[in-house]
Order: sequence, then C-alpha cells, then structure tokens
Amino acid sequence: MSKRILIVEDECLIAEDLKMTLQQFGYEANSIVAYGEEVLSVAREIKPDLALIDIKLRGGMDGLSAAQNLYNELGTPVIFLTANANIDTIKKAAKSAPYGYLIKPFQERELQVTIELALYKHKMNRFLRDREILLRNVIDIDPNMIYVKDREGHFAIVNRSFADMFGLSPEEIVGKTLQDLADQGKLSVSLMERLLQEEIQVMSKAARIHVPEEVFDIGDGKLWLKRTVIPLELDVLDSGLLGVWVEISDLKNTELQLEESYRQLQKVMEQTVNGFGAAMEMRDPFTAGHQRRVSVLAVILAKNLGLDAQRIEAVRLAALLHDIGKIYIPSEILNKPQHLLNQEYDLVKLHPEVGYNTLKKIDFSMPIADIVLQHHEKLDGSGYPKGLTGDEILFEAKIISVADYVEAMVSNRPYREARSLTDVIEKLKKLRGISYDADVVDAFIDLAETRRFDFNLFTEITSE
Ligand SMILES: [Fe+2]
Repeated sequence: MSKRILIVEDECLIAEDLKMTLQQFGYEANSIVAYGEEVLSVAREIKPDLALIDIKLRGGMDGLSAAQNLYNELGTPVIFLTANANIDTIKKAAKSAPYGYLIKPFQERELQVTIELALYKHKMNRFLRDREILLRNVIDIDPNMIYVKDREGHFAIVNRSFADMFGLSPEEIVGKTLQDLADQGKLSVSLMERLLQEEIQVMSKAARIHVPEEVFDIGDGKLWLKRTVIPLELDVLDSGLLGVWVEISDLKNTELQLEESYRQLQKVMEQTVNGFGAAMEMRDPFTAGHQRRVSVLAVILAKNLGLDAQRIEAVRLAALLHDIGKIYIPSEILNKPQHLLNQEYDLVKLHPEVGYNTLKKIDFSMPIADIVLQHHEKLDGSGYPKGLTGDEILFEAKIISVADYVEAMVSNRPYREARSLTDVIEKLKKLRGISYDADVVDAFIDLAETRRFDFNLFTEITSE
C-alpha cells in the first residue's frame, strides 16, 4: 500500500511540483496545506504517514509549531523543508524531533531517499515503543515483585506487585531510595541496611545474589521470599541492578504445617512405643529393661554399619518392642530360675509371632513388625519362627539379633550368672557368619575392643 504524504508548503508552484514528483515515486500525495493553522485539522482527516513541512509559512503559525502539534497529537513523522539552513533554524527544528531535513532546492532522488529513511526510522521507533509497552505490561501484571534501581540507589522501575507489598503505588516508589521507604516506616532499618549492603555488593562486584528462602518483616506481616538480584548495566538508561522477589509464603507455611504434623506424628508414635514399654514394665520389668538396653546397643551398631537415618530409627523402634510378644507368656515361665521344659520353651518361642501380630496393624511406615518377627532367626536357618536363612532375614533384624545376644549374655539371668565381655566376644567369633551376620559381629567386636561402649551401663562412651 502506498504511503500517504501531507505537503505543507505556502509557495503554490513548489507545492504542485512536489506533489507531482511524489506521485511519480508512487506515494499518495493529494493534500497540500499552505497555513500552519490548518495542518492539524487536515491531518486528522487524512491520517498521513509522513508530512513534508516548510519551516517558513505565511500566517501566524510557522512550520516548526505546526510540526510540533502534529507530532504531539498524531505522532506523524515530519521532514522539514527549508531554503536557508542557518544553525538557529536547525536548532529550533531539532526540538520537534524531525525525521529529516531537505534544503531547497533539492534533487528528486534526495527527496525519495530522505522520505524512505524517515518512514523506516518511524517504523523502527514504533516497533521499539510497542516492545516497551509490551514489556512494561508484562512486568506490571507479573505476580512476582520486580524492580530496577539506578546506580545511586533510586528505584527506576517498580511493578505493581512490588509497590503493593509496601502498600504504595509504583509512582510513589519510583525515584525513592530504600532509606526513604525506611523513613516512611515501610521497612525496618536493619532490613534496609542489609539490603543496601547487598546492593553495593551486586553493583561493585557485578555479582549475582540468589537467596532461596528468607523471611522479611514488610508491611503488615511476615513474607517468605525467594530473591534474585543481578547487576544491570544498560546503554542509555541509568541502571545498576534488577531484582526479582518471589513470594513463597503459602508454600513455606504448608511446609511448616507439614513439618509440625510430622513432629506430632513422631510424638504420638514415641508415646505409643513408650506406652507399650510402660505396660511391659508393669508386668515384666526385666524384659522392659532388656529392650531398652538392646535398643541403645543396636542403634550404635546400626550407625557404625552406615545405615541411613530412617533405617536407624527402624532399628531403634523395633529393638524397643522386639520382645513385646512376651506379654502373653506367663511370668512364672519368664522368671523361672531353672532351665525351661520343652513345652515351656515352645511357648516362649511364640513371642516373635505374637509381637508381629500385635504390631502389624500399626502403620509405622517402617517394617517394624517384620523386624520383630525375625529377631530370633539365624543365618544358617536354625532360628525361629520360620527358619529363614541369609538374605531372607532383614539386616535390621540381624543387628537386633546380635545386640539381643550380647545384652542377654552380659546380664544376669535367673538361671545363670552374667558372662564376661571377653567370653561374649569369643563366642560371637565362633558364631560369626553361622548364626550371626559377619558384618554385625565385626561392628560389635570393634565397639567392644575399642572400649567405646560401657557394657555394664549400656551407654556409649564419648571421648569428652
Ligand atoms: Fe526375643
């Protein structure tokens, strides 16, 4: 589509000549205006893509004022025509941001090149302006808090979300500093000082700062934020840094609530296990104490064997409960000073399964019931209740099995005296890899020989 050009020229012959030339070049040039006062009304009607305006016009309004009005209202690019290009005229003309000058008389070719350059420049300017409007809108509707500061620390650009955080409008923040906001009581002095330090660091070292999460006292309450601040050096605009703050309060509060309910759940579980222990204690104080000591030793062995935190916790809980099934065995059998009769021993051997059935209905999110079920299994299949072998037995059960054996051997029993630690080590060396897991036995021997455990008190010996 051909471009529409408005001619503003008070010399009739020149105007007509110009019109013909423009039409020859393929432009639409049907309108000629001779007076500055008429430019705007004609332009409103025909909406020209460009105006060629003579600086000197008859009448009250010269070409400079007419061009200024035209550009201000319709954004129409202007090329000035002038016969005398003195420096004063050019300076005045520059104020209306012209897209070109043509000094009369000019060549036709010169006219065409100047027009095409002006149209191209105008198109590029509009393109940049569109981009800027788009960017400004995107920034403005962004729910994250975005700001740009100049090198002196004044806010140069802030979006709506950033301003909302302080209960202000973007216009009320632009041009202000952090100090101004602190003076208005919008943020604490300590926070302001911290942010200022950070800004100096970003601008002086051209360093990027990323804070994954932190809490700010801003406005009416606490805000959890994830923040990134980067140095920003632009060519024309005075800028020092760009900051983006993302509010993560909802996420953080949910996380805190989840942690709290997990703590509550842990507490309930702990209380449940302690409740079992208390019930056991009342009926069979001997077994209750045994479970506590086995648990202490088993946890240390589990740690030394490199188990992760969750498996160590499983070892601790399962050890605390491993003989819970003995609650069903008559106490006269449990406390019998002599060796048990076969049928009595058969009854005692039921306790892992009774324990399993008691615990399997509780959702520990760990295999506590299975570990309890397997704590009397032996590597070679000679254990009970299932006669499992090797890898069929859970490692946690193998740890408790060694701790159980050690605790029983070094304690007095109604039917026998306590054995010495040396005796226990010797016996376990013989049973290593046959009844008991080799790694677990090694971990126990290491603990015993390096004297890092008190086998009388069943506590760890720390170096302090
Ligand atoms: Fe047991």
